[in-house]
Amino acid sequence: MDFKAKILQGIPSELPPKKEYDTSVNHAPKRKAILNAEEKQLALQNALRYFEEKHHQELLPEFKEELEKYGRIYMYRLKPDYDMYARNIEEYPGNSTQAKGIMLMIQNNLDPKVAQHPDELITYGGNGAVFQNWAQYLLTMQYLAEMENDQTLVMYSGHPMGVFPSHENAPRVVVTNGMMIPNYSKPDDWEKFNALGVTQYGQMTAGSYMYIGPQGIVHGTTITVLNAGRKISKSGEGLEGKLFVTSGLGGMSGAQPKAGNIAGCITVCAEVNPKATETRHSQGWVDEVISDLEKLAKRVQEAKAKKEIVSIAFQGNIVDVWEYFEKENIYIDLGSDQTSLHNPWAGGYYPVGLSLEEANTMMAEEPEKFKKKVQESLKRQTAAINKHTAKGTYFFDYGNAFLLEASRAGADILAENGKNFKYPSYVQDIMGPMCFDYGFGPFRWVCASGKEDDLDKTDKIATQVLEELKKNSPEEIQQQMADNIQWIKGARENKLVVGSKARILYADAEGRMKIAKAFNDAIGNGEIGTVILGRDHHDVSGTDSPYRETSNIYDGSQFTADMAIQNVIGDSFRGATWVSIHNGGGVGWGEVINGGFGMILEGNKASEERLKSMLFWDVNNGIARRSWARNKEAVFAAKRAMQMEPKLKVTIPNLVDPALFDTNT
Ligand SMILES: NC(=O)c1ccc[n+]([C@@H]2O[C@H](COP(=O)([O-])OP(=O)(O)OC[C@H]3O[C@@H](n4cnc5c(N)ncnc54)[C@H](O)[C@@H]3O)[C@@H](O)[C@H]2O)c1
Repeated sequence: MDFKAKILQGIPSELPPKKEYDTSVNHAPKRKAILNAEEKQLALQNALRYFEEKHHQELLPEFKEELEKYGRIYMYRLKPDYDMYARNIEEYPGNSTQAKGIMLMIQNNLDPKVAQHPDELITYGGNGAVFQNWAQYLLTMQYLAEMENDQTLVMYSGHPMGVFPSHENAPRVVVTNGMMIPNYSKPDDWEKFNALGVTQYGQMTAGSYMYIGPQGIVHGTTITVLNAGRKISKSGEGLEGKLFVTSGLGGMSGAQPKAGNIAGCITVCAEVNPKATETRHSQGWVDEVISDLEKLAKRVQEAKAKKEIVSIAFQGNIVDVWEYFEKENIYIDLGSDQTSLHNPWAGGYYPVGLSLEEANTMMAEEPEKFKKKVQESLKRQTAAINKHTAKGTYFFDYGNAFLLEASRAGADILAENGKNFKYPSYVQDIMGPMCFDYGFGPFRWVCASGKEDDLDKTDKIATQVLEELKKNSPEEIQQQMADNIQWIKGARENKLVVGSKARILYADAEGRMKIAKAFNDAIGNGEIGTVILGRDHHDVSGTDSPYRETSNIYDGSQFTADMAIQNVIGDSFRGATWVSIHNGGGVGWGEVINGGFGMILEGNKASEERLKSMLFWDVNNGIARRSWARNKEAVFAAKRAMQMEPKLKVTIPNLVDPALFDTNT
């Protein structure tokens, strides 16, 4: 049976043989055993409903074993034997180019070169799932291969509920992930309802099929490190010879050393999991690996003396690095953290003093004890960071809920007013005022032909568009334009592509629309093949997250989620090919609502209309909200957008003179 036939077959009516547990891949940690006997039975019933009754006898003990051993039912046996990667769009079976493009993106998210725990269908972030089990994957691919352009596939947290009649301008797929009744959105609710097989944590671009490997985050991190460097620069000097200390070489965090190299500093990035270190080292994302603290300190001193641009993985715990560098008086210029603290009790954060294996066993068998260890470790880490910042280190939270979890652990992390944190989030200080409020965010595209040549051509097109736009851009956004033109020109040399032929850059609404239009024209002329547009959810409008994307909203509305919901609804009727809305992503379940879209450009008039209508809304929704929150950069951007588009009318806030309160209160 060839690849197309296997996709069209869906869940096979004859079961494939049981599979051996593959020890060569990086597996998800065993999840917390949270279900009681009755609930376990419910989880098994839920799993078996994907299969004809004749298979239940055979599958029941197997699924029971998976649930006991791994805390979840992944249905390993159903994992297909064909290679998992983003193929040329032409290789997918089907009646709809749009649906084929979505299949390509799904396979990319599950590609073992891209995905963190491919056998458990986890793309990144420890628990960022594309599907809950392999039956859902098979069924979804079959639906996509069979559907037409007047149908919409409805995805409930990885489960394909079905294909419903719609119309050509409707999305082909609508995805919801982890949407809960608000009172059922605590971390243990995820554990329980995910174990039951009725919800999943979609992260941001995992459950929405828009992950492009660590390239996306390399770009964002490069911009962040560059701008953080500008913040600490005393006399306009760059980052040469300066030290950046952080942690995590996982799905997203693995981009940090590469970004450090592009930004031009010395990076030390600690990672406890040797498999993650090895992956990033073999991919060339980190230059050197050192597992001895004394050697690490020596190497760093040498790099500082020579002002080398180098990235070093420390094979071990980040807490040890902060403490050792303090003892040895090694000055750290920039500090951050990218352990997966959005998921602190289930393998996102490994406490100091325990080996990886000890920690994995303890989190499954003695969860309360493990929780205490994590909290103690966070307290130690914070204490060491505080000592460094007292000497001048600039520390920022990198959107992984470090400050939040450290405060919950009782660490000394609150500012003197007892309310705010001692340290800013990178969005408050950098990304918010410098990027999002002006509409700049992580626009991305994938060349669906899989050809390197197409990617090169799109890079050139995007560069031309941005250079042209920069000529007439206002001064306020010149730095952003310049950083991104420089980025796109160097993107090829940086060899950032893992998986699909994808590219990212930060652009505002005008930039995104003009680049997309130029791609659509080039597809129409036959210069390039189909292009898939999208973005990270970590953007201007897509995400309401009070400690991250909307942490620089100060009118109290950072705890509302209207913007993200409005965004996904607005995208869906303005021409997105697929839309998604998630609970959880980045900072944790219950802490954020985030959404995204995908749009297939087919080089025709319909694509042109869709891209203009949808991309304009997709950015300006957030600008309007940020502007209403009195962010002056967003007020500027909203007024500029209204000048460009007479049909746009945004409610602009009236500012109150603070002196009024001095005399009246
Ligand atoms: N701000 C952003 O733009 C942004 C982007 C991406 C990710 N994030 C957040 O950063 C976090 C990391 O994301 P990811 O995709 O890399 O997750 P990941 O789980 O793939 O990687 C985290 C890595 O940290 C390692 N780790 C855990 N505890 C450690 C410790 N004490 N010392 C050293 N290493 C340790 C883990 O082994 C793992 O490999 C997440 O919370 C994510 O939401 C933020």
